[in-house]
Amino acid sequence: MIDDLWYKNAIIYCLDVKTFMDSNGDGVGDFEGLTRRLGYLAGIGVDAIWLLPFHPSPMRDNGYDITDFYGIHPSLGSLGDFVDFTHEAKKHGIRVLMDLVVNHTSDQHPWFKAAVKDERSKYRDWYLWSKTKPKDAHQGMVFPGVQESTWTRHPKAQAYYFHRFYKFQPDLNISNPDVQTEIQRIVGFWLELGVSGFRMDAVPFVIQRDGVRDLHAEQFRLLKNLRTFLQWRAGDAILLAEANVEPKRNFEYFGKDGERMHMMFNFFVNQHAFYALATSDVRPLTRALERTRIHHATSQWAHFMRNNDELDLGRLDEAQRQRVFQEFGPEPRMQVYGRGLRRRLSPMFEGDRRRQELAYSLMFTLPGTPVMRYGDEIGMGEDLSLKERSAVRTPMQWSTEANAGFSTAKKTVLPVISDGPFGYPRLNVADQRRDPNSLLNWTERLIRARKECPEIGWGEWRVLETSSPHVLALRYDWRNNGVVFLHNFDPKGHLVTFGAGSSEGAMLANILSGEHSHADGRGQHRVELEGYGYRWFRVGGLDYILKRSR
Ligand code: NOJ
Repeated sequence: MIDDLWYKNAIIYCLDVKTFMDSNGDGVGDFEGLTRRLGYLAGIGVDAIWLLPFHPSPMRDNGYDITDFYGIHPSLGSLGDFVDFTHEAKKHGIRVLMDLVVNHTSDQHPWFKAAVKDERSKYRDWYLWSKTKPKDAHQGMVFPGVQESTWTRHPKAQAYYFHRFYKFQPDLNISNPDVQTEIQRIVGFWLELGVSGFRMDAVPFVIQRDGVRDLHAEQFRLLKNLRTFLQWRAGDAILLAEANVEPKRNFEYFGKDGERMHMMFNFFVNQHAFYALATSDVRPLTRALERTRIHHATSQWAHFMRNNDELDLGRLDEAQRQRVFQEFGPEPRMQVYGRGLRRRLSPMFEGDRRRQELAYSLMFTLPGTPVMRYGDEIGMGEDLSLKERSAVRTPMQWSTEANAGFSTAKKTVLPVISDGPFGYPRLNVADQRRDPNSLLNWTERLIRARKECPEIGWGEWRVLETSSPHVLALRYDWRNNGVVFLHNFDPKGHLVTFGAGSSEGAMLANILSGEHSHADGRGQHRVELEGYGYRWFRVGGLDYILKRSR
């Protein structure tokens, strides 16, 4: 197996250009500002940045409503700034991934406007129409409570158009070969400008045949075609799918031989990880890991804690979801769409550093590639006065200067959090950079350690049995090297007994501190884990390079 599949062990960092760093004082972050912050990202150890949509857009869904797939939103810069950015990122050893939003366009996109204006336009068939209101118009809304239907009548077009998301986001008709060609053209365009791949938005909806006739016939062939095209243009570029589907369907997205999506976000494990964090029972998480085990060497999970959306708990059962709500978002204003929480990680844990470390340590050691969310490395909070998911999208907090050092403008694109324990005067990069014990410096150290554990991305993994239902023990093996990770989800400390699973495992060397563990005569380790404690161990000794064998 070749081992230059960079995405198997990368540290991915997700950010939105407009809330990261404003270089020209107009209140909106931009590519020039982001480029100036590449040193910061390289310093933490980031290998790849995933950029949220940055195209021209009326911004009614945070840029996921695009009017030109080949452009840059004028507030964020120009195509020239973009290429400067990808060039500088490369110099810093950082790859760039971008959102590929081709399930829908904005209703202001010239294609949709042409389709509305003239029934004979070639663009008419780029969207999905019905002369009468389909019976299922009130089903399948992604934003229940905010979105009223999936079919809306357009008076000028004298027909209903299908929209899986908000009504200003008409779905493209993926069955139309011209639409498929256009998607390839978009992919090819941005590859030329230096990106290393795409986070593909809403994949299950993209490949539905059409909204009218057959909502469930998915066109996996399209994913393979896209993959083939991508790889022909750029051998090391990847597709990372947003597809929150049942575990048994995951493999349709990866492809039996790994021939479709390289990566998928593991929403199933994410939701069960929050359940474990809420209840301290790790058994459902263990089952979720087993149910999402990958069998193909080039396929890979992306593990995350929080992202740009709500914490979607739709795959838990009702009782489980209520437990998580109760623990992490009991107030109705913290909840959204009947299934999720519009909260950031740190406030969900009431700023408890032990739980933040536990969550991040877990994310970095789950079988896959970690995807961080900007601001989580300093423990940023949310602003519940903002609507829907904007609560978790406030500007990055760089310093104690006005607007957190994000912008010199009077008014910023979204308000900066300025009050309380999560306000920028008390929580910002500059202060944390100076403090060796800060969350920021802890995160940086953890990332360094993660990079010394390639077994996680490449290896075989198994759950080790322990004496406690509150402790998750994972072991990875790759090329005669092994690592073991323990996470205690309980607020109480536990003395955990476990076998490391091999004779070499008699000695477990602590990767993060000096406390190593030696098994007793029966091969059992006894580790005293404090409440929410975690341990990273290397099997047999500290240096994996020495033992490495090809
Ligand atoms: C998923 C994105 O993460 C979300 O923010 C967006 O609203 C929908 N896709 C629609 O594009």
